[in-house]
Amino acid sequence: MDHFNYQDGQLFAEQNPVTDLASRFGTPLYVYSRATIERHFQAFETAAGDHPHLVCYAVKANSNIAVLNVLARLGAGFDIVSAGELARVVQAGGDPSKVVFSGVAKTEQEMAYALELGIHCFNVESSQELDRLNHVAESMGVRAPVSIRVNPDVDAKTHPYISTGLKQNKFGIAIEQAPEIYQKAASLSHLNVVGVDCHIGSQLTELSPFIDALDRVLTLVDKLAEQGIEIRHLDVGGGLGVTYDDETPPHPEVYAKALRERVADRPELTLLFEPGRAIMANAGLLLTKVEFIKPGDEKNFAIVDAAMNDLIRPALYSAWQAIVPVVPRLDEPEAVYDIVGPICETGDFLGKDRALALQPGDLLAVRSAGAYGFTMSSNYNSRPRAAEVMVDGEQAHLIRARETQASLWQGEALLP
Ligand code: LLP
Repeated sequence: MDHFNYQDGQLFAEQNPVTDLASRFGTPLYVYSRATIERHFQAFETAAGDHPHLVCYAVKANSNIAVLNVLARLGAGFDIVSAGELARVVQAGGDPSKVVFSGVAKTEQEMAYALELGIHCFNVESSQELDRLNHVAESMGVRAPVSIRVNPDVDAKTHPYISTGLKQNKFGIAIEQAPEIYQKAASLSHLNVVGVDCHIGSQLTELSPFIDALDRVLTLVDKLAEQGIEIRHLDVGGGLGVTYDDETPPHPEVYAKALRERVADRPELTLLFEPGRAIMANAGLLLTKVEFIKPGDEKNFAIVDAAMNDLIRPALYSAWQAIVPVVPRLDEPEAVYDIVGPICETGDFLGKDRALALQPGDLLAVRSAGAYGFTMSSNYNSRPRAAEVMVDGEQAHLIRARETQASLWQGEALLP
């Protein structure tokens, strides 16, 4: 559930009429709801209950420091994939000792920075990475806490670009090779083996792949115990899907409860979750204005002021996101439109074949845009990136100013 609802014929973001947000902050505009973010995070917390656990929000989904700060205040941990994301967590008041560091190619500098800050764990993805981390930790006179990301070879049944748990993917270490790699990790003097990690993909709408993966990983944990390697935490990754259209993913509470039950007889095993989308997607929308209506023989186009540089998911993954009118024209006839942006590419669309009653100047809201929206945006076509606002009850706070034209060439230089 989210806090974007119609009242008196218009869309509200918590207690803010969305039309007011457009007049105050302009469009295109990302709008996030604090109450929704908090509600989604608490669903994981509640379901994990009294089993030792840590919910590490996946920063890549939405890394605005105000978003991170709202979660840090609730005691969240963070899943990061770069030094930049770690710096954001610190800037937002997050606790480095609750940070897990994922990603296939951490640099020496990134490792050193994370060791300095004392993060919770490195999720290591290859044998060479173990050597690099051991070397960096040795040079700093510390021991690095590590999990190995194992690839349980289960089919997440999601879009191929965001499926990560199959043998053909670049991520993790095949689960059959894991005992050998763990033996190596245990033998390296500046590593401290603490956990097992897995992440099988994103936007999963069924429970069974998660359970299958967990069962395979638990078998590994037992095998490692026989080898004398004691595992203290199990990181189940992220990947829980959300409803964009008519998908019916398990509710975060159902999901987290199901995983918790699987480890109920192992209180010594702390559960780590890395949700991104499930917390942020439906906590945000992208607000855009219709510039022109262009009727055609085969297609009608509604050309809006947001584009693929603002929200690339439809162009990149053929992702479907709901597009709704902010003030519905209830008595006017609908037509079928492709909702397209101003960028010079045929792939620049936010939605296709949408039945809407529209006039130029109308506001539209692209729903479920809180995750992988702004973080994947770019300056393509020299378009300054959109502003971001967080609503909190009756308040609306600007949490990222709209970029200016001068910001477009910041850091660039003319030849002498
Ligand atoms: N942990 C790891 C190691 C990950 O690679 C990811 C996402 C997550 C956690 C969080 O997954 P989530 O709970 O958000 O599904 N840009 C794509 C999604 C890419 C996901 C990449 N990894 C999209 O817009 O659909």
